Amino acid sequence: MRLQDKVAIITGAANAVPGEMMGLGGATAWLFAREGARVVIGDINEKQGQRSVAALREDGHDALFVKLDVTREADWQAAVKATVAEFGKLNVLANNAGVGILGTVEETTEELWDAHMDTHAKGAFLGCKHAIPEMRRAGGGSIVNVSSIHGITGSPTLAAYHAAKGAVRIFTKAAAIQYARENIRVNSIHPGYVMTPMTEPGFSIPEVMQAVMGRIPMGRLGTPEEIAHGILYLASDESSYVTGSELVVDGGVTAQ
Ligand code: NAI
Repeated sequence: MRLQDKVAIITGAANAVPGEMMGLGGATAWLFAREGARVVIGDINEKQGQRSVAALREDGHDALFVKLDVTREADWQAAVKATVAEFGKLNVLANNAGVGILGTVEETTEELWDAHMDTHAKGAFLGCKHAIPEMRRAGGGSIVNVSSIHGITGSPTLAAYHAAKGAVRIFTKAAAIQYARENIRVNSIHPGYVMTPMTEPGFSIPEVMQAVMGRIPMGRLGTPEEIAHGILYLASDESSYVTGSELVVDGGVTAQ
C-alpha cells in the first residue's frame, strides 16, 4: 500500500478498461488504486473514462471521473474542486494527457504545433498551477509530468512533439525548485516506446515497428505497467528526496 491515504489525479487516463488496450495513464490508475490511492481520472474522453471508473469501482476502489480538457484553465479549476469535494484533499498529480500526431518540421502546421504545445506543455503548467495550492494545504505533494524520450532526443518523424515534451522536461525543473521548500516535489518521467491506443495505429505498420525495434537495445517494447511503476515511485514517499529529476524508462534507447 505505497499510496495509502493519498488522493491522486491522473490526466489522460481514460484507457483503463481491463481486457482492452490500456494507456500509460490507465495502467497508472490501476496501480495507484491497488497501492491504496483514491484516484481521479481526468480526460476529454468521457465515455471511456466513465467505463474505466466503473471498472475500478467494481474492483472495490475509490475512483472518480472528471471531464477535463487539460488545455483549459476553467476545466482545471473545476477538476481540482471536484477532487477535493469528493475525497477531501489532493496529494498526487500525474500530468499524462497527450497527443501523438506525426509531422516533420515542414509537415507541421501552426495548428499541429499549437495542439502539441497546448496539450503537453500548457496542460502540465495549468495542472501544476491549480494542484499546488491544494498540495500546500495538504502539507506537500508529488507531481509527475509525463514527458518522453522524445523530450530528450530527436527523431526522424516528429517536430512539435519533441518541442512540447522538451518544454515539459525543463518546466518540471523550474517548478521543482520553486516549491521544494514546501515539500511539493515535481519530477518528469521519460517513457520509451510502448504499445497504447495512441501508438497502436503507427506501430501496426510493419516498417514503423521495424524501425522502432531497431532503436531499442532491449529488443522489445515497454509495457504500460513498466511505465506506471516509474510513476508510482515518483508519486510515493519512497522518492521523498527526489525532485526536479528525470526518470528514463526506455529499454536503453537514450543510453546510445
Ligand atoms: P493514450 O491514448 O492511452 O493516452 C492519451 C490520453 O490523453 C487519451 O485518453 C486522450 O483522450 C487524452 N487526451 C488527449 N488530449 C487531451 C486533453 N486536451 N485533455 C485531457 N485529456 C486528453 O496514450 P498513451 O500512449 O498512454 O499516452 C499517455 C502519455 O504518454 C502521453 O503524454 C504520451 O505523449 C506519453 N508517452 C507515450 C509513449 C508511448 O510509447 N505510448 C512514449 C512516451 C510518452
